[in-house]
Amino acid sequence: MRHLTSRTTRRRVVGSLTAALLCAAGLAGPAAAQATGGASDTGGTSDVSDTGSANGTAGTGGANLPGDLALTPPMGFNNWNSTHCRAEFDEAMVKGIADLFVEKGLKEAGYQYVNLDDCWALPERDANGKLVPDPKRFPGGIKAVADYVHAKGLKLGIYTSAGTKTCSDIGFPGALGHEVSDARQFADWGVDYLKYDNCNNQGVDAKKRYVAMRDALKATGRPIVYSICEWGENKPWEWAADVGHLWRTTGDISDTWSSMLSIMKQNLPLAKHAGPGHWNDPDMLEVGNGGMTDTEYRTHFSMWSIMAAPLLIGSDLRKATPETFEIIGNEEVIAVDQDPLGKQGDVLSSEGGRWVVAKEMKDGSRAVALFNETGTAQSIATTAKAVGLPAADGYTLRDLWKHKSYNTAGGISATVPAHGTVLLRVSADGKWAKNPPAVELGLEGAPLVEAGKPARLTSKVTNLGRTPAQKVSTTFTGPSGWRIKATSPSTAASLPTDKSLSTKWTVTAPRGAAPGAYDLTLKTGYRSPGGARADSVLPLTAHVVVAPPAGNSAVSDLPWMSTVNGWGPVEKDTSNGESAAGDGKPLTIGGAVFAKGLGVHADSAVEYYTGASCEKLTARVGVDDEKDPKGTVTFEIWADGKKAASTGVLTNADAAQGISADVSGAQVVRLVVTDGGDGRDSDHADWAEPVLSC
Ligand code: GLA
Repeated sequence: MRHLTSRTTRRRVVGSLTAALLCAAGLAGPAAAQATGGASDTGGTSDVSDTGSANGTAGTGGANLPGDLALTPPMGFNNWNSTHCRAEFDEAMVKGIADLFVEKGLKEAGYQYVNLDDCWALPERDANGKLVPDPKRFPGGIKAVADYVHAKGLKLGIYTSAGTKTCSDIGFPGALGHEVSDARQFADWGVDYLKYDNCNNQGVDAKKRYVAMRDALKATGRPIVYSICEWGENKPWEWAADVGHLWRTTGDISDTWSSMLSIMKQNLPLAKHAGPGHWNDPDMLEVGNGGMTDTEYRTHFSMWSIMAAPLLIGSDLRKATPETFEIIGNEEVIAVDQDPLGKQGDVLSSEGGRWVVAKEMKDGSRAVALFNETGTAQSIATTAKAVGLPAADGYTLRDLWKHKSYNTAGGISATVPAHGTVLLRVSADGKWAKNPPAVELGLEGAPLVEAGKPARLTSKVTNLGRTPAQKVSTTFTGPSGWRIKATSPSTAASLPTDKSLSTKWTVTAPRGAAPGAYDLTLKTGYRSPGGARADSVLPLTAHVVVAPPAGNSAVSDLPWMSTVNGWGPVEKDTSNGESAAGDGKPLTIGGAVFAKGLGVHADSAVEYYTGASCEKLTARVGVDDEKDPKGTVTFEIWADGKKAASTGVLTNADAAQGISADVSGAQVVRLVVTDGGDGRDSDHADWAEPVLSC
């Protein structure tokens, strides 16, 4: 799992110090928990009912709170991902976001809650034990902000922690022991949503803490959406359907591909626990914050929607690009998230990083996400039958990012760009015939090109439609100076159902082209029998590569093709260090220091071009000594799509271990580090002395 911030580490230290103090006072263990819990002004807590949604059968509105709230996943904004506690989090920001919700059509699209996260209060309560809004950030108080937001037909959310203090280093007052008074104050201000965090919880049982606030909110009589934020630590999906409307399932998201991916993978298996009024919450959106590409942000938004996740915008919309508005404002994707049936999509397959996730919709259609986790374009396929649709002659297949409809005879497939998601809605609606046929446009062979040397690639257009694709014509283009030539026919008069047009191409990068990634575009145009034009475009990333020299090479001296890293960049010949580039220390495993190698952080993958000319990769591997003894990782060596070697789970306690893989015939070798399956942080992993023999 990605590295947690030092703030998080501090939070843990604080927790154990408190435990030590209670211990010294003879109040350790459950007694201590009760002693702290007893300070609650709720005068005791009710039991958690067992009628949750663990079996997926719970009814609607399970939070046992006033109002039929969150019957679809909450949508809105929260400042945390864009501002943390910085000064720009203030009244002007909150009002600005509310204004933009209206002006940009986001309110119309369903976004409703404008939520304040940590740091809105002063560090001390007033003489009456009441919370005090920070007068610098909120000079008019919270009620005034709520009034402003309400006047626009929107709702206001607030934040506190089920602990003695919130999570920020500064430590704002938490609600543990103040549940009734704080809930009353929120209700009096006109708050409509509470995010209730988990920091400084003094070891008090989570169910007790979260039920105490539920009951306090209930006692106010005001309908308030209740968002449980205990990071999935106590499996809230098993007990919280009757407690809150949503519960975080994971640690905090950050604005990186690997964080988003790891959170998605933790949340996907929990599908059966979600339903109207009780949702899995894989944390707020990072779309627009700058750490991912727009392709990756579309994946983020597509996958959160098919997971029926809350859609809380996490970027400062006052600075957002048109692309950000286009992504978060895509009403066809939002409709997948907000479908009233309230199902979270199920994973149908995920082999080789090619994910198929399908979500049953109220109208009987299925939303289908074809998500490509890998760094190269992949063909991802399923069928109308496999996603649960009834047998039919044809189906309407709607592409929710292209906003176009096609017909399919039953095949649902696409070649999906690296890190991309094709999001479809497929219906057996009997109206398929009016749409052009869907085609899949793909490429056989990876576009790995040595400068000045023609590479041979084959494109393939397959008609998935019930109707024929006519006047089919494929083109392949690249950057200026690249020569791309068809060496077999690139047109076909008509392609019947399931038939393909394959075209052979030679692709030559200019002599002297620098190694690296280049954009190519494959495109096919065609007509439906009625004459309507349609096309399919596949953006591709070609790599100009250099074959490794014959003999033994130190891997850290070779140019890599691509890297993915859980925290900061991959380092050459030093450990991972912290988040900045070049901040590592000498690679050290179990006291042994290594001069050469790679310092990475799980989840990580580093790819090298080997051009089918190498035989073996060997290394010494282990968790770097630089972090406290928490890291747990596994090392894997992949030869093209095949795992060629792996270690078991290694920890800081282990000495460097040898790993060796036969990579003969592989075009690409991938060095992978996983988080060892424990979802823990500080996974600083070293590939010491990796040597490639060619
Ligand atoms: C925790 C939560 C985050 C955010 C911060 C605020 O880390 O999980 O979502 O609210 O606290 O300090």
